[in-house]
Amino acid sequence: FPGKVKLGDKTYQKDSWFNVPDSIATSIDRQLHTTNDHPISITRSIVESKFPAPAFKHYHDFFPVVSTHENFDSLGFPADHPGRSKTDTYYVNETTVLRTHTSAHELEIFQAKESDGYTISADVYRRDAIDKTHYPIFHQMEGARLWDREKVAHGDIAKAVWEDVERLPKHHMIVEDPNPPTHPERNPLQAGHAPEEAAAIATHLKRSLELMVVEIFSRAKAAAMATNPNYHDEPLKVRWVEAYFPWTSPSWELEIYWQDQWLEVLGSGVVQQELLQKAGVPSKLGWAFGLGLERIAMLLFEIPDIRLFWSQDPRFLSQFTGVSDDLDTLKRFIPFSKYPACYKDVAFWLPPASSSTTSAAGGLAPPQAFHENDIMEIVRNIGGDNVEDVQLTDEFTHPVSGRRSLCYRINYRSLERTLTNEEANRFHERVRGELVKKMAVELR
Ligand code: PHE
Repeated sequence: FPGKVKLGDKTYQKDSWFNVPDSIATSIDRQLHTTNDHPISITRSIVESKFPAPAFKHYHDFFPVVSTHENFDSLGFPADHPGRSKTDTYYVNETTVLRTHTSAHELEIFQAKESDGYTISADVYRRDAIDKTHYPIFHQMEGARLWDREKVAHGDIAKAVWEDVERLPKHHMIVEDPNPPTHPERNPLQAGHAPEEAAAIATHLKRSLELMVVEIFSRAKAAAMATNPNYHDEPLKVRWVEAYFPWTSPSWELEIYWQDQWLEVLGSGVVQQELLQKAGVPSKLGWAFGLGLERIAMLLFEIPDIRLFWSQDPRFLSQFTGVSDDLDTLKRFIPFSKYPACYKDVAFWLPPASSSTTSAAGGLAPPQAFHENDIMEIVRNIGGDNVEDVQLTDEFTHPVSGRRSLCYRINYRSLERTLTNEEANRFHERVRGELVKKMAVELR
């Protein structure tokens, strides 16, 4: 591990925490959210259009390598929060990570005081499962809107915020919002906030985000109708669900009813006064949200697999040509032919969890608690975007020895061509070898 690593155009000192695979490091340069005519960038523009200047300023260029302080501590994450673990997060060294969310920039942006509101769009990184909706790099947009108590006549922030709410356009959709603005246990009012203030800010937050969702869906609908004249038009249904984030209270998630299920699209809340104090703006008050751009883009364009965003295939990219310049030309994605799936299973015994075991490869890997994300990473490092998903299909514990056995089914399928069985076998043999070497499993 000792030595240095180059990420983007910067060089970092590695230590034993380093766990960033090459495939991730080399993708940092892609910056899909600012690539002209890329669906992630188009989606970003549409969302940004609902947060207009002069109140909002839009940022796109925050570098993905941040300190653990920025990503976790500044936001009030407890020291033992699972999100900090090496199994979930990419570490460059003990105090430096690839950001796991755009909230990592809230403190500095509040400190900068460049505008009342802003959005930050950026690539974020999380170790995760492999399937059609998860990819270790994705894109988020953070947004916030602050009001300055000192600039408001008679200090009546609630009145100022309500005046602003009245100026927001009316919209038609079905909104379920059954919960009270605050709840003493589940979603508390902050100590320094008056109930009227929190209620006004919450309404502004909810109305602003509902407007954004209406915009996305009217565009999705127009795109769907263009290709399907029999498109059945139904009013959009959304709901607000109470949530918890260490740096907001009260907090909510917004879910959208889409193709017969509720989809979570964003997290949000009233910004903790403590964060604003830390940022040197104690007299401000406001809201923040963070949303996943891939999820919204997948709905908007009907893109069926998250790997497509990384495809350089002209059959994908050419479908979006010109849309950045004229958002009204947006069309649904028309999938190109689906290539055959190739399923391969791998079954193994996990190493006994005793401290005296050494790995089969000669004691390289100290025994560690098993985490599925390590398997996902081995598969991804070998198969790359040729793997569609990885599922646990069987699991049992031996009644006598107490050892655990797992079976995973890997689906090798390229989005761009037919993989031969030999190619899939080659990937799979390497996966088996690496599982033994890196995780000290015993193949069955
Ligand atoms: N960062 C949060 C996430 O990734 C979303 C969020 C942003 C929640 C801002 C509240 C305020 O889930």
